[in-house]
Amino acid sequence: MADLAIDVRDLEKTYRTPFTRKKVEALRGVTFGVERGHIFGFVGPNGAGKTTAIRTLMGLVRPTAGRAQLLGEPLGSRGARRKIGFLPESPYFYDYLTVGELCDLAGRLFGMAAGARKRRADELIEKVGLGGARGQSLKKFSKGMLQRAGLAQALMNDPELVVLDEPMSGLDPLGRKEVRDLILELRDHGVTVFFSTHILSDVEAITDRVAIIARGRLQALGTPAELVSRSLRGVEIVVRLPPTVSPDISPDAPALDALTDGASRVRRVGDELSLTLAADADVDAWIARAHAAGARVVQVAPRHETLEELFVRRVAGADAAPAEPPAEPPAAIEEAAAP
Ligand SMILES: Nc1ncnc2c1ncn2[C@@H]1O[C@H](COP(=O)(O)OP(=O)(O)OP(=O)(O)O)[C@@H](O)[C@H]1O
Ligand SMILES: [Mg+2]
Repeated sequence: MADLAIDVRDLEKTYRTPFTRKKVEALRGVTFGVERGHIFGFVGPNGAGKTTAIRTLMGLVRPTAGRAQLLGEPLGSRGARRKIGFLPESPYFYDYLTVGELCDLAGRLFGMAAGARKRRADELIEKVGLGGARGQSLKKFSKGMLQRAGLAQALMNDPELVVLDEPMSGLDPLGRKEVRDLILELRDHGVTVFFSTHILSDVEAITDRVAIIARGRLQALGTPAELVSRSLRGVEIVVRLPPTVSPDISPDAPALDALTDGASRVRRVGDELSLTLAADADVDAWIARAHAAGARVVQVAPRHETLEELFVRRVAGADAAPAEPPAEPPAAIEEAAAP
């Protein structure tokens, strides 16, 4: 446990809106752990509670209940803060600064010496692709350039843990890829990276573990592969029918009954028949029947739910029952992230 980079237990946050004093339950008992050296993706739709969780971790929001540790130290600890890099959501920077000055400012806050600040800033500005925009003030920067500048300043103190709130937002596909590559490079250097996003393909490609959050609750937690493989939908099979089966015979003709019985998504294209069997179907027996009927098996492939489909299902489920935990406590949910 002490070796987790981030350890969050039963975190709750209820905001009160300023005038009406209406309660907003932004986090409703969130528990997870991030191992050191991992890339962890925190995925959820707008208003899910991602920024609230991140701001709580950074000591900017006081939790209503629960506890959390960063790098083995309690929230708000100065010792931990020095080892953490942070990119806030839609960061606001002084317009009249250049990216070099922005990085220099971050370096000063961490007590770095002038020479080290200059070297580190130069290196990072190149790394995030802003070498050509050194002389410009941030006022002239596009959203994507500001995002890169924010990343550079978050890395000034050579952090052990980097917390990024939507680091890919505002970036075009190439920019997103560059940020993904940068995150991978950080992990190669042993840095733990925790980042939020609402775009699944960002996490599918690079994360070691993913948490899906919606309406203040974790909906799923696991490796991207686990989340997908725990959701086997069925088995897709394609067979080539023997020439004796006329191409005019439709999939539900009696001649094909033995093969299409119990199958879903049956499609006939020319002499090929493709269909999906249920995840628990006896595939061997089905293939034996297909052979007996003179058909030749062309393809057998598991049909997994994609992370995208899982996300939609979990988030839709959370919307349908906002105050309840997910309906069927799915295998993908781990109660606590204790290793
Ligand atoms: N300071 C605040 N006062 C009151 N309610 C707030 C405050 N900050 C956030 N909320 C509410 O808390 C909920 C979670 O918001 P949060 O910003 O954490 O979500 P998010 O997942 O980061 O969303 P997004 O993808 O849009 O950034 C929302 O319903 C939001 O309106
Ligand atoms: Mg947010």
